[in-house]
Amino acid sequence: MNKPKVLITGASKGLGLAIARKLDTEYCLILHASKSENIIELREGNFVLAADLSNADELSEFCKKLKSEHGDDLYAVINNAGISIDKPLAFQPERDIDHMIMVNLKAPIMISKTAIKLFGLKNKGVILNVSSCVAETGNAFQSIYAATKAGLIAFSKSMAKEAGELYAGHQIRILSISPGFIKTSMTDQIPELHREKYLKMIPAQRFGTAEEIAETVAFLLSEKASYINGSNIEVNGGLF
Ligand SMILES: NC(=O)c1ccc[n+]([C@@H]2O[C@H](COP(=O)([O-])OP(=O)(O)OC[C@H]3O[C@@H](n4cnc5c(N)ncnc54)[C@H](OP(=O)(O)O)[C@@H]3O)[C@@H](O)[C@H]2O)c1
Repeated sequence: MNKPKVLITGASKGLGLAIARKLDTEYCLILHASKSENIIELREGNFVLAADLSNADELSEFCKKLKSEHGDDLYAVINNAGISIDKPLAFQPERDIDHMIMVNLKAPIMISKTAIKLFGLKNKGVILNVSSCVAETGNAFQSIYAATKAGLIAFSKSMAKEAGELYAGHQIRILSISPGFIKTSMTDQIPELHREKYLKMIPAQRFGTAEEIAETVAFLLSEKASYINGSNIEVNGGLF
């Protein structure tokens, strides 16, 4: 029997790559990055589907290919690709605002729109949107990033309810996960002063690892999590 397929966006590095490594044996992966050559690991036995998600035409083509090339076996979508361009709002160029909204919010919405139609036909599937702790806490100089991530939580909760209305007796789950501060290239950019401030807010007194997020994602995709739906799961070392 064919392995169920799982799309992971932003699988070239950081959380996406750790998630891909964790899921590799159980699922057939559709590995996404902005460019095909950015996917270096795990190509064998899996698929690569590239698109710059800030580009509307590439996003539309990506969704078409997802449906035509992988629609039959698609079991789950992990909307993980994301970008943070940190600045005071007063000095944030509009193109940065559009870029973050497109990659972090519109792309997950359009990919979910493609996936939910396929899942509706089979009455089965999981959409997992990668949000962030700042969606609930807020963060200075990340107002747009935080807004996109808060949007993902509301989107996931609404979609879970919508699936309940539309697909009776279904096994479709739509969730979000809010990582805290996790060691990746995204958090490598945090200045030392801010890093110390954040560490004081984390009872675990350390940043998390991408592998710790991957473990949670693997659980949420599995049958063991069959009654978790519409929830936002915080994985943040107790951050307050
Ligand atoms: N690290 C943390 O502490 C943390 C905390 C909370 C939430 N998150 C969220 O977790 C997710 C992964 O973060 P990360 O730390 O692993 O970040 P990362 O190491 O910077 O990786 C980002 C991924 O997103 C992809 N991506 C970025 N812009 C893209 C675009 N325009 N088109 C297509 N793909 C694009 C990148 O692909 P390319 O390599 O091709 O550019 C890369 O695979 C993000 O949604 C982030 O907001 C992270």
